[in-house]
Parts: sequence; structure tokens; C-alpha cells
Amino acid sequence: MPIDVIDGTRLDLEAEANRVSRQVDDFFARLLPSPEDSRAQLYDAMRHAAVGGGKRLRPLLTIAAARLFNIDEEQALRVGAAIEAIHVYSLIHDDLPAMDDDDLRRGKPTVHKAFNEATAILAGDSLHALAFEILAHEATHKDPLVRSELVFELSQASGPNGMAGGQMMDLLAERQSLDLASITRLQQLKTGALIEYAVEAPCILIRLAREARTPYRGYARNVGLAFQITDDLIDHAGDEKAAGKRTGKDAQAGKATFVSLLGPERAAQQARLLVDQAIDHLANHGEEADLLRALARFAIERDR
Ligand code: IPE
Ligand code: IPE
Ligand code: MG
Ligand code: MG
Ligand code: MG
Repeated sequence: MPIDVIDGTRLDLEAEANRVSRQVDDFFARLLPSPEDSRAQLYDAMRHAAVGGGKRLRPLLTIAAARLFNIDEEQALRVGAAIEAIHVYSLIHDDLPAMDDDDLRRGKPTVHKAFNEATAILAGDSLHALAFEILAHEATHKDPLVRSELVFELSQASGPNGMAGGQMMDLLAERQSLDLASITRLQQLKTGALIEYAVEAPCILIRLAREARTPYRGYARNVGLAFQITDDLIDHAGDEKAAGKRTGKDAQAGKATFVSLLGPERAAQQARLLVDQAIDHLANHGEEADLLRALARFAIERDR
């Protein structure tokens, strides 16, 4: 297993990522057994999308940020899984014919291909609901006020003022020329909002004052943008087999992205700069922040 030694960071990111992926898989598999009635197909579709695959970046970020504050990992995992449920729902809907019309996701057929469109819509709806069910459950935090803030902030991050709003802007970015500020805003909503929430949620779990959250928000904002620039770079020139999804789709759709605006070299340079800035926000932390530092690097050093 490779040990990353970056910025003094010594940690086996691959081992951490594999461990968290297994925990997320187990969590969804346990939560979603198929019932013995005609809803079985819906549960099968939810598991098809939620179990096995994906980098699990958002749960990893939540677990990494929880480590800064010595939060019980079981608790962090529940919150991370809730975010992953929103993310997976957004992918199912993103792949539908009405949106990006994709047939491959995480190296498997998309849900509407493996099942059908109606089932994909309902599987997305159900994962969306599941996210809030997980957060609102007593096992997530004993204080109902904390659970309520977790739910409130996730609803903001995933709705029209967050991920769904960014998806709307992204669809309209086809055949539009946007400036850097507009693309940044679009990406911050489409991808950034959920990633920011993944890092903010542990702050909520320990009732950290809002003013004290600034460095973590700064870190997450920079990582979110760098991550989406890399998604656009993978779409631009990535290998489909490694990525586990179709590539070349943004250019085909005439979509304005960081890559279409800056070109791939400057976009990659911008992503590296953002990662350096993200890591700078963690300057007050020691090795308890190493996983966050490694994840920031991973956000751009990836082929899938
Ligand atoms: C892909 O997300 C879509 C974006 C929001 C950029 P990920 O790259 O995190 O996809 P998975 O979860 O690893 O499949
Ligand atoms: C999707 O963005 C972002 C979501 C909120 C689901 P993309 O359309 O760029 O994601 P990929 O490239 O299909 O994974
Ligand atoms: Mg899309
Ligand atoms: Mg897409
Ligand atoms: Mg993309």
C-alpha cells in the first residue's frame, strides 16, 4: 500500500478510502434489504446505485473533518452516508435522458438502463428522503437541535440554493458562453455545496460557533472547486474505462466549463492552486488534519 508523504503527511489514503467505502457499502446494504412485495425493484435499484462503487469522497471528507474534533467515527459515518445518499440520488437523476442521458456510471449501467426510467426517478426520490431520515434519527446525535441543524443545512445544500440549483445552471450552460465568475458560482452550487456540507457537518456535531468554522469552510470551498475542475478535465480527456463513465460529453453538449473557458492546462493549474490554498486553511492543525490534506490532493490527482 502506498504511503503518501506530502506536505509532511504520512498516511495510507488508499487504505482509509477502502475502509470507508466498505463501511458505506455495509451501511446501505443493511438499510435497504428488499421487501417481499412489489417494492422490491425499487430497493434493488437503490442498492444498485448506492452499494459498490464511487470514490466516497463526501463520507471521507466528513470522517476526516470529524477527526479534527475527536468525533466518534460511527456518528460521522451516518452523516457521511446521508450526504452520499443525496449525491447518489443526484447522479441517478443526472444520468436520466432528460438530463445528461448517460448509460454508464461507476463502471455499471445507469439505473434507468439497468431498470427503467420510472424506477430510476423513484430510486432517486427515495434516496433523497433516506438522507434526511438518517440525519433525523436519534442514532445520529442525541441532541434534537443538532439533528435539526444537520437537516436544515443539508436541505439548503441540496436544494435550489445548492446542488439542484447548480444542476439547473449547468443544463442551461449548454450552448452558453459564461465568464469565470458565473462558472465558479455554478460549480459552487452544483458540486461545492455538498462538499462544503460534508466538512461543515462535523462542526455542527460539536456545536462549533459559526465564526470558528471559517477555515473549514475555506478548505471545503477550495477543494470543491478543484474537484469539479478535475471532473471537467476527466470529461475532457479522461479514459472511460478508468473513469467508469462516458467522457467527452461536455464538449459534445457545448457546455461551458472551466476547461472550455481556460483550456486544460490553465484549468489544471488553477486546480493545483486551489488545493494549495485548501491545505493552507489547515495550518493550525497537526497530524489530525492529515487525512483532510491527503483528500485535498486526491481531489485533483485522480483518473476517476
Ligand atoms: C461526480 O461525482 C459528479 C460530480 C458532482 C462532479 P464523483 O466524482 O464524486 O462521483 P463518484 O461518487 O465517485 O461516483
Ligand atoms: C453532476 O455533474 C453533478 C451532480 C450534482 C450530479 P456532471 O454531470 O458533470 O457529473 P458526471 O460527469 O456525469 O459525473
Ligand atoms: Mg450533469
Ligand atoms: Mg453528468
Ligand atoms: Mg462531469
